[in-house]
Amino acid sequence: MERISTGIIELDAKLDGGYPEGKVILVTGTPGAGKSIFGLHFLYKACQDGKKCNLIATEEPPDDIFIQAEMLGLNLRPYVDNKQLEVERIFESRTETTKQADQYGYGFEGTQENILDKVKSVPDDTDVVVIDNIGVFALNLSVKEFRDQIDTINSVLVKKGISTLIVMDETAYEITHRLAEYSVYGSLRLMMKENPYTGKRERYIDIPKMRCTDISLDLFVFDITSEGIKLK
Ligand SMILES: Nc1ncnc2c1ncn2[C@@H]1O[C@H](COP(=O)(O)OP(=O)(O)OP(=O)(O)O)[C@@H](O)[C@H]1O
Ligand SMILES: [Mg+2]
Repeated sequence: MERISTGIIELDAKLDGGYPEGKVILVTGTPGAGKSIFGLHFLYKACQDGKKCNLIATEEPPDDIFIQAEMLGLNLRPYVDNKQLEVERIFESRTETTKQADQYGYGFEGTQENILDKVKSVPDDTDVVVIDNIGVFALNLSVKEFRDQIDTINSVLVKKGISTLIVMDETAYEITHRLAEYSVYGSLRLMMKENPYTGKRERYIDIPKMRCTDISLDLFVFDITSEGIKLK
């Protein structure tokens, strides 16, 4: 099976060389656990390797994302300028519709951007997609609707052969009974917890699932530094 770099050298080593190529990987975790930064590493390395990338940003304005990336030495702006990286600005359209709904007094149902349409409209020659965060689309769906939607998103992307990282916040993930994890090819869970020996809080990665990959059941400790994510 072909592999695509996660953008984090030490993580590639734990995954037989990287994420399985052309598949969908889910990253879940609590607030501030490092989910978006995982996505930034993946995008940056793919851009460096000349791949065509697409970021679907539902949670933060892209400018904030670029500032955070730059602070970690992952400058994505040149790749936006040379059109290697397309950014779908769902965040602005989502919040703008909410403002209009408030202003003109119509219902908030209209604020639901269709994530599936966005995914379908990603050009077929795209190599890498990052969706951060899909959780916002889970909140007003029934569990069945959500499962159908995530399965469809998964199959549309796999058919296009796109290596995808889907970020999902822990709350939406729990509300939807962790169903997203069954559809996807692999999943990473990021968490922070206290080390019982030192009493200090540490960041951990759990890899509960990675098909076709010999994964360790151990949790890996990592740090976020000015150079991004470093596994210890
Ligand atoms: N330059 C840096 N040096 C050290 N740590 C940093 C640096 N930049 C960011 N961080 C850490 O990364 C965390 C944010 O990571 P990230 O944005 O990936 O989290 P997230 O899981 O996406 O959070 P959310 O659920 O809010 O979107 C910050 O809370 C901070 O602790
Ligand atoms: Mg985030």
